[in-house]
Amino acid sequence: MTNYNFDEIIDRKNTNSLKWDYAKKRGKPEDVLPLWVADMDFRTPIEVINAIKEKAIHGIFGYSEPLDSYFEALNSWTKRHYNYSISSNNIILVPGIVFGIYQSIKALTNEGDSVLISEPVYYPFKESILDTKRNLVVSNLVNNNGHYEFDFNDFENKIIENNVKVYILCNPHNPVGRVWKREELLKIKEITLKHNVIVISDEIHADFIYSNNEFTSYATLGLDSLNNSIICISPSKTFNLAGLHNGNLFIKNNSLKRRVKKSIIETGYSQSNIMGIVAAEAAYKYGDKWHKELINYLENNLSYVRNFIKDKLPKVKLIEPEGTYLIWLDFSKLGLSDSDLNKIIINKAKLWLDEGNIFGEIGEYFERINIACPLSLLKEALNKLYDALNEEGLLQ
Ligand SMILES: Cc1ncc(COP(=O)(O)O)c(C=O)c1O
Repeated sequence: MTNYNFDEIIDRKNTNSLKWDYAKKRGKPEDVLPLWVADMDFRTPIEVINAIKEKAIHGIFGYSEPLDSYFEALNSWTKRHYNYSISSNNIILVPGIVFGIYQSIKALTNEGDSVLISEPVYYPFKESILDTKRNLVVSNLVNNNGHYEFDFNDFENKIIENNVKVYILCNPHNPVGRVWKREELLKIKEITLKHNVIVISDEIHADFIYSNNEFTSYATLGLDSLNNSIICISPSKTFNLAGLHNGNLFIKNNSLKRRVKKSIIETGYSQSNIMGIVAAEAAYKYGDKWHKELINYLENNLSYVRNFIKDKLPKVKLIEPEGTYLIWLDFSKLGLSDSDLNKIIINKAKLWLDEGNIFGEIGEYFERINIACPLSLLKEALNKLYDALNEEGLLQ
């Protein structure tokens, strides 16, 4: 028995939606179907909507801070879902995880210092390093026949050669869908501790884990690595709240926390968005059942994509995700140039996906598709893709 209707098509046009309203402004044809940026076409749980309504009706939106109940709700979620505890003393609220990453880099490094990432990866990681005038160091993940892995020799060598100060981990990994195993994380811990590299662990996709996979937070690997890390937690992907700008940095180490706090204060940001606080608290308190059904729904969407590709697009390779609703598709067997591939997707299939190359050069010939939408919409998108590739004679 399901209680929530994820099949409902909710019209998002003219709702200030970056995903749905900005094709033309971003240089795309106006009639593209958007399956790009990481937000979902599902309504957030009713309990969250009611909490926001209640606050709206109260009608006073003065400077706001989270109450104890906020931290209790967050702690209860992290304990039940990620196996660690937080408290108000070790959480810094941020208006977004990307903002938190920028400020953490500024706090922990100086201009010219090296910061490491593993591409293909969420492109604001690279931007946060370049924009803050740090030295970008990349250790690419290795695509082992559709299963991405770390090359730990390269990872360690890059750290040594560049005197890396910070590593930004993405777990689960956007866009390749890996949910890093405990052993892999322990290896990262070993190398980073050995070379005094602080780890920023972006765990924003932690609630999107598919069957047979288990999420391990970097926070659970021991006090030594916890004291050497910043854990990014957010309800914004899980409950579709990105527009409310609530994120949390869990920083156990007081000295690190003070440095990051100082850097945030220097931006002029102080109190949080009241609706973000209210929504996050309600989501963490009441969102379990909705979340469970959401994952089942996404798993069903994923299985549709898998079967569609197998039956109709055998030259396209699905990189089987262990988590996240962002699916990484390999089009390299079509024999197109990267730029022709992107032209066909956008102009012929009329699909707005994320071009793989934005996640690093290694992402060329790939596309990232967001499957967090009603199945009917996903079917429409896949049919458009099929028709476009078929008309171009690319499926023989
Ligand atoms: C890995 C990752 N981190 C951070 C974000 C964005 O977080 P925020 O909107 O809180 O800055 C995203 C959004 O797609 C993401 O995929």
